[in-house]
Amino acid sequence: MSDQISERRQQFDHPLIAVPSHDELTEQLFVRDLKLYVMGEIEPVQARIAAAEQRGARATGGNDGAGALRARMAQHESFGTWLSLKRESQRQLWSSVAASVERQADQLEQLADIAAPLGSVRTDPGFVPPDYIQRGDIHLMPGGNAHDDGSILQGAVMDRGGAVYMLGRNGGMLNDLRGQTAMAHVLTRFPDLAPRRILDMGCGIGTSTVPAATCFPDAEVHGIDVGASMLRYAHARAEHLGAAVHFSQQSAERTDFADGSFDLVFSCVMFHETSQAASMAIIAESRRLLRPGGVAVHLEVPLLHDNQDAWVELSGELEAQYNNEPNWHGALTADYRSLFEAAGFNAVETGYQATSPAARQGPFRFGPESEGVFRSWFVASGVA
Ligand SMILES: C[S@@+](CC[C@H](N)C(=O)[O-])C[C@H]1O[C@@H](n2cnc3c(N)ncnc32)[C@H](O)[C@@H]1O
Repeated sequence: MSDQISERRQQFDHPLIAVPSHDELTEQLFVRDLKLYVMGEIEPVQARIAAAEQRGARATGGNDGAGALRARMAQHESFGTWLSLKRESQRQLWSSVAASVERQADQLEQLADIAAPLGSVRTDPGFVPPDYIQRGDIHLMPGGNAHDDGSILQGAVMDRGGAVYMLGRNGGMLNDLRGQTAMAHVLTRFPDLAPRRILDMGCGIGTSTVPAATCFPDAEVHGIDVGASMLRYAHARAEHLGAAVHFSQQSAERTDFADGSFDLVFSCVMFHETSQAASMAIIAESRRLLRPGGVAVHLEVPLLHDNQDAWVELSGELEAQYNNEPNWHGALTADYRSLFEAAGFNAVETGYQATSPAARQGPFRFGPESEGVFRSWFVASGVA
């Protein structure tokens, strides 16, 4: 092992993540701060303008729906500026990360070459990604989630980009608060469940999967996703973190696992990247894969809304359009209780699970009220 690699191993929580040079880090921090400025300074001003526009519309008996609000907002120059900056800062994020990843491509490939793996990775050269994945580059990541050139590099871009994208609020470089929180939900609602086989659907680069392996070290853990590069990277990343996980390239809508072959099936923030039809198919597939008494836990962003507020509605539309989130609206307005029950689940609950940095340490708090973004996550769970 070269000195550079062993130094990297000592310096970082997770040694596979691309490490920026001084200049690359400066650029990434600039993008992070630009995103914070756009979200923290410009967006609240837009919310105030929207509130004034809505009051005006109501006072004059005008249409106060999201479409009409958008037309009125478009007359404010700052609205266009906000949207341009929102998109441009996201585009810059990926370009600042991609250049850094490409520079260290050889070193990362070397690190990903695992001599005696605990887990495995299975990719499928004939796999056809679903339409909603192919139609646009989700989150504007160039090439999208399913991009594959036979390397681990798309996964490496997603890993470093994810840490910058989440502004360090999702578990730092491990980016794993969602997975930890999903497992904390299992321990909160189903403390007696001792899963022997666990499946993480839409595992990406395994940030949600490794917490399952850590929380339930005796279980056989599987992760599936649509992108081969992400999965190769996920496998190497899990190995560096000492987790035995079996990754495979499959759509969560229909997998090749046998009926009743899992005790726990879960996902983290996958539905908003699919479609409404796919979400229904994925919930049905979760049910098929669970043995009687097995548990499904599906976690989403804690921003569910009921279309009562035109600004909330419009913000969702803009997020979908300017950050390529194909099913943002569908995922945030779905009636998960009905979808779970229609798929044959019992004891269905929906609510908000308090964010956990380490599942076994809790907090074990699940209730009907959101504690806020990054403080809790929306979760729907049920028993097969
Ligand atoms: C926002 S990422 C979340 C990754 C990971 N679960 C986490 O919490 O960090 C959503 C993932 O779902 C995957 N995905 C979307 N549709 C899918 C499908 N039909 N089957 C499997 N994975 C899918 C995407 O490729 C992406 O990696």
